[in-house]
Amino acid sequence: MATQKIIIAIDGYSSCGKSTLAKQLASQIGYNYIDSGAMYRAITLYFLRHQVDWSNRERVLEALKDIHLSFEYNAAHGRSEIHLNDENVERFIRDIIVAEKVSEIAAIKEVRTFAVAQQQKMGKKRGIVMDGRDIGTIVFPDAELKIFMTADPEIRVKRRFEEYYATNPDITIEEVMHNLELRDYIDSNREESPLRQADDAIVLDNSNYTREEQLEKVLQWVTDRVGSTQMA
Ligand code: DC
Repeated sequence: MATQKIIIAIDGYSSCGKSTLAKQLASQIGYNYIDSGAMYRAITLYFLRHQVDWSNRERVLEALKDIHLSFEYNAAHGRSEIHLNDENVERFIRDIIVAEKVSEIAAIKEVRTFAVAQQQKMGKKRGIVMDGRDIGTIVFPDAELKIFMTADPEIRVKRRFEEYYATNPDITIEEVMHNLELRDYIDSNREESPLRQADDAIVLDNSNYTREEQLEKVLQWVTDRVGSTQMA
């Protein structure tokens, strides 16, 4: 049965499991998954690599002109991955060096205008799941389903620590905790589109759910909106 395609916006703090849920959900219902955080991370990577002085508005605008972002499907990984000027930068953007600067760069007005315009273009035909911080509030205030994810801070630190540890065994729990706290603080207190729950978002606290339970719950919310999840 062909059903109406909708936009599913998933927002929340860092390391709440947004991207895991978004990826699973998109693949289950045949939608495109767009990781908006990857865009801010790729811009940060570019700024670091090219030593862009991001305190200078003119330098930022010049640098943005040289940045082309795209998502390309990687069949081997079964997901779309971010490309920065045609280079697959997926493995570089998860580095702690990028994580330490990304919130600062994502708070710059010109950077947000640049990223948001592209995100809105990607949602033109609907049929997408996008995760981030301002998807339900700024990027797609008309999204048919908005989810705001939370999880216990300890669980979030543990999850992110395990992820970093796989590639960087020297990392400490304290470092990861400090990075998450700082990013949450900057993301929630910045002037430009701070992280906040949209009035019409459903809160999903996934501290005590398995991935399967969480997916089942969200699939039900999708069905409630479109009548079926057989959409592919
Ligand atoms: O989801 P993530 O951890 O990959 O996001 C990286 C950073 O990008 C995060 O600290 C906040 C910022 N971000 C944002 O400001 N708006 C979004 N829509 C997505 C991410």
